[in-house]
Amino acid sequence: MVNRGAHHSRTIFSSATARIFPRKPSPFTITLQIFFLFAFSILLFLFYTRNSFEYEQKHPYFSRESLLNQVDVHSTVEMSEEQLWYAPFSHGVHPCIEPTAKYKAAIGSDRYMTVRSNGGLNQMRTGISDMVAVAHIMNATLVIPQLDKRSFWHDSSTFSDIFDELHFIQTLRGDVQIVKELPQELEALPRARKHFVSWSGVSYYEELTQLWKDYQVVHVAKSDSRLANNGLPLDIQRLRCRALYHALRFAPPIESLGKKLVERLRARGGRYIALHLRYEKDMLAYTGCTYGLSDAESEELRIMRENTKHWKVKNINSTEQRVGGFCPLTPKEVGIFLKALGYPPSTPIYIAAGEIYGGNAHLLELTSRFPNVVFKETLATHEELRAFANHASQTAALDYIISIESDVFVPSYSGNMARAVEGHRRFLGHRKTISPDRKGLVEVFDMVESGQLERSMLSYLVQQMHEDRQGAPRKRRGPIQGIKGRGRFRTEENFYENPYPECICTSKRHFQ
Ligand SMILES: *[C@@H]1O[C@H](CO)[C@@H](O)[C@H](O)[C@H]1NC(C)=O
Ligand SMILES: *[C@@H]1O[C@H](CO)[C@@H](O)[C@H](O)[C@H]1NC(C)=O
Repeated sequence: MVNRGAHHSRTIFSSATARIFPRKPSPFTITLQIFFLFAFSILLFLFYTRNSFEYEQKHPYFSRESLLNQVDVHSTVEMSEEQLWYAPFSHGVHPCIEPTAKYKAAIGSDRYMTVRSNGGLNQMRTGISDMVAVAHIMNATLVIPQLDKRSFWHDSSTFSDIFDELHFIQTLRGDVQIVKELPQELEALPRARKHFVSWSGVSYYEELTQLWKDYQVVHVAKSDSRLANNGLPLDIQRLRCRALYHALRFAPPIESLGKKLVERLRARGGRYIALHLRYEKDMLAYTGCTYGLSDAESEELRIMRENTKHWKVKNINSTEQRVGGFCPLTPKEVGIFLKALGYPPSTPIYIAAGEIYGGNAHLLELTSRFPNVVFKETLATHEELRAFANHASQTAALDYIISIESDVFVPSYSGNMARAVEGHRRFLGHRKTISPDRKGLVEVFDMVESGQLERSMLSYLVQQMHEDRQGAPRKRRGPIQGIKGRGRFRTEENFYENPYPECICTSKRHFQ
């Protein structure tokens, strides 16, 4: 997981800088500049008259380098309210999760599937949605999954503590039968205990129906990433979306507090950014990212990594990690990033995260730029939060709701939460999600730091770099070419990160 996301980053600045500060203009460069000026005006024209939503794809005629040549590099580019806050253009794009005409419910089966769901909240949510689809493929009755109590999060919550169990069962009535518990008389029967192969397709699960010859109960030991992202029948993909976006609603106490907190945030100043600031101790120890930390802190993280058995990589060069774009942005980097994007210092920023490593000392580098930083604890009373104490998954659910409802969502690192929230926001109408190009950002930050790039250039460069990273409609990315075997699946964009085209459609037929 450490290296995920490398392919999303691009290196653009090495050649760009050479062109920003040309040494001696030759007649050729002058001609070139006139040409680019012309090209730039056309681009401006196209930009303002665009009516296609596919503008996340790079415009083929103009390279970013050519643009840089023409712009007055010393002016920060003022962003309008619309550019800062409005959702990307997505006219005519809408959710589509209805089954097709040939879809059949798998109901009334007397074969049962029990599931132990693993991971944190978002890994469990997507895993459970996959298990709904698997139960459908295998024609099994799904028993309400057990949640992970042993993971890093140590949360004793049960399914019904976190999710609206009745709603889950009823919403999926037409898809698969779900029961609260395994019938008493089956408890004592031997179960087929399976570790399903990750990223499996329909044929794998169809073959597994052979198990029903010998067993009446199949137990699934792990639910995360057991189903392929791509290549599944449309009805299975849409079932996954129905499960995740409609059936898996949070339990009423969580939903209701979540809504209250969103209202209080809005009352503070209208629009807000939800920042998933992935700067927790375990994250930094695992990724080996110590940039900006003291020697003592770095050592503490190294020891934690050394002592955590299931983290396989022990020797990590922090510099290489960071330059490669594999580190979460630091609070300071996030501050510089948001400022460069043009957000005013008064912008309310809700921090969706666990405990920030180093506490206030590191947070200060963000709050000094954006004093209006808000936490759950700022918004909710002690009494309101008491029920959530020691329930990391329930707290994460609050963060999820507030992140979904935000005007802008910014994850400082890619992970299960970032992916799930981004996908859900796409599904709900392509709400703005700004995905930092960490590799590119680190490159420009370091160039400013070392004096190779003028600070005044930063804003323009950062805005350019993120023009096509705002969550506009586009199809899910496939695997990276050239990677063989099962490793390829890891390089695919996750189904739940972007359920387009299966659960998000453009067809006029659906659009009334
Ligand atoms: C599903 O299982 C039920 C009973 O266990 C059976 O009657 C039905 O034919 C099965 N459906 C399919 C599609 O295999
Ligand atoms: C880490 O990598 C950087 C860049 O490759 C290198 O300059 C540095 O010496 C390395 N540090 C260690 C401790 O190996």
